[in-house]
Amino acid sequence: MAKTKIARENWGSKFGFILAAAGSAIGLGNIWKFPYIAGENGGAAFIFVYLICIAIIGLPVLIGEVLLGRTTQRNPVGAFKKLSNSKFWISVGFLGVLAGFIILSFYVVIAGWSLGYIFEAINGSFYKFNQAYTSANHFTMLIQSVTWNLGFTIAFLLLTMLFVYFGVQKGIEKGSKIMMPLLFIILVVLAIKGLTLDGSEKGVSFLLNPNWKLLHGTSILIALGHAFFTLSLGMGAMLTYGSYLKKDSNIFSSSTQIVFLDTLIALIAGIAIFTAVFATGQNPSAGPGLIFHTLPVVFTKMSGGYYFAILFFFLLTIAALTSAISLLEVVVSYFVDEKGWKRHNAVIVFGGVTFLIAVPSSLSSNVLADFHIFGLNFFDLADFLASNIMLPLGGMLISIFIAWVWGFDKALVELKQGAENIFTDKPYIISAWKIFVKYFAPVLIFLVLLNSLGIL
Ligand code: PHE
Repeated sequence: MAKTKIARENWGSKFGFILAAAGSAIGLGNIWKFPYIAGENGGAAFIFVYLICIAIIGLPVLIGEVLLGRTTQRNPVGAFKKLSNSKFWISVGFLGVLAGFIILSFYVVIAGWSLGYIFEAINGSFYKFNQAYTSANHFTMLIQSVTWNLGFTIAFLLLTMLFVYFGVQKGIEKGSKIMMPLLFIILVVLAIKGLTLDGSEKGVSFLLNPNWKLLHGTSILIALGHAFFTLSLGMGAMLTYGSYLKKDSNIFSSSTQIVFLDTLIALIAGIAIFTAVFATGQNPSAGPGLIFHTLPVVFTKMSGGYYFAILFFFLLTIAALTSAISLLEVVVSYFVDEKGWKRHNAVIVFGGVTFLIAVPSSLSSNVLADFHIFGLNFFDLADFLASNIMLPLGGMLISIFIAWVWGFDKALVELKQGAENIFTDKPYIISAWKIFVKYFAPVLIFLVLLNSLGIL
C-alpha cells in the first residue's frame, strides 16, 4: 500500500501527553496485580524492592523510550529503522509489537471480568455471599460461562477500539482527560473509606512492615517484571506515545511525573484494598483472585458497600481501558506509519485480530482449562512470557541500543531539547541517567533474566 501523505498526529498539550501516558501506565497492573503480588511476596519487603527497580531501572528506561519516540516520530519498528537500519534492531521493534498483542490477549479478558462485575455490583449479586468461598464459587461460575466471559471481553475490546479509532487528540487524549481525574477521585474516596474502617491499621501495617521471610529470589524477578509492566515499558507503548510529542516538551520532567503518578496510584490502591480486606477479616494473600473473590465479600461487610462496589469496578475498568488503548495504539501506529494504512481500518482489523487471540485466554478458565503448555494455561503463559521475559528483554535491548548503538552524543542532543534547564542547572541528573542506561539497566536486567530461566 502507498505511504499516506497525511500529517502525523500530535498531542494537543503537554498535560494531555502526561495524562495519556499515566493512563497507559496506570491499569490492571496497579489495582489488580500490584496488591496481590505484594500480598504474596511479603508486603512492605516486596514494595521496597519494587521501588528500587522503579527508580534505578524503570525511570531511566522510560526516559529513553519516550526519547526514541520523540526523536524519530515513529512507531517502535519505524524508530529503530530510522536510527539504525539494522535487521536485528528492527526486529526488536517487532518484538515490541508482538508483546503488545500478547499482553492485550489476556488484558482484555481480565478487563472484561471487571466490566462484567460492574453489572454484578449494580444487580446486588454480592449480597448473596457473605463468605469468601461463596464469592469464589460465583466467580468460577461466571467465568465458566463462555457467553459471559467472551461477551464482556468483546464489549471491553469495542470500547478500547472506539477511543483508538478517534485518534490521538480526539480519542486517546480526550478520553484520558476525563477518565484519569475520575479514576483518581474514586480511588481516593475508596482509600478514605478503607482507612476509616475499624481494624484498618492492620492493613496499613501489612503494607508498611516488611516480612522479609516471604521475600524469596523470584520475588526480585517479579518486582522487576512488574516495574516494566506497570510503567508500560519494554514494548514500545511509551515510545509510541512519545512519538506524538512536539520537540519542546521536557522529557525528564514529564517522565518523572508519570512514574510518580503510577507509583502513587499503586500505593493508594494497596491502601484502599488492604485496609478493607483486613478490617473485614478476609485473607490478604488470595492471589489473582483477591479482587474478584475477596473484595465482593469485603463490600458486603461495610456500610455503603453497594455503592463502593460499583465505584471500585468502574475504577478498575477505566484504569484498564486507558492501558488497553495504548497497547492497541502500538499496533495501529505501526500499520499507519509503515504500511500507510488508514487509522480506522487498522483499528478495525487489529481489534478483530486481538479478539481472536484473546479467545484462548478467555477460554482458559473454562473449555480449555485442562490445556497446558509448560505447565501453564494460555492465560498464565501469556502473562509470564510477556511480563517476565519479553518486557525486561525489550527494556534491556532498548537501553543497550541507546547507550551503545545510537550513542549518547546523539541522544543527548535530542534530550536537551525542552530540557535545557536540567542540563545547565542539574548536570548530575544527566550523568546519572547515562550511567543507569549504560550499565545498571542492561546488567541488572540480564542477571534477573538469567535467574528467571534457571541459569543463575
Ligand atoms: N501498564 C499497564 C498496567 O499496569 C499495562 C501495560 C503494559 C500497558 C505494557 C501497556 C503496555 O496495567
